[in-house]
Amino acid sequence: MLAKTLLIGRGTCCVSAGAEQIHHALVKELTQLGLADKVQVKGTGCRGFSEIDPVVTVEPEGLLYCRVKIEDTPEIARSLLPEGKPVEGLFYYDPVIGKPISHYRDITFYNKQQRTQRFRNFHKNTKICLQKANLCFE
Ligand code: FES
Repeated sequence: MLAKTLLIGRGTCCVSAGAEQIHHALVKELTQLGLADKVQVKGTGCRGFSEIDPVVTVEPEGLLYCRVKIEDTPEIARSLLPEGKPVEGLFYYDPVIGKPISHYRDITFYNKQQRTQRFRNFHKNTKICLQKANLCFE
């Protein structure tokens, strides 16, 4: 049974910031830890906040990791083990309040927006969209 989902923004800015490589590295790390059948990794549409790309969201909690690098992927994968802890160093740092924020719902940039297209983008599976458009490649 899948216990968690990692959502990776795969809009154009996300991809140019390395989202594809992050996606593949996370799948590899999760497989090595034996978590491939417990954690799903999905690409999504634009997350609307390119400045913090690449972004990875852990659902169902809604933890948001920003400016993720390849070298961060082992720690993100280990955080999903039963004894794992969130990767606090990847939380969004809010310059106005001077503190890190763990959940995307609490980030001012997001919580002042209407949940319409953005909400769908957060959960859209880009692979299915690309397949429907006959543009899928792996
Ligand atoms: S394309 Fe990456 S946040 Fe919009």
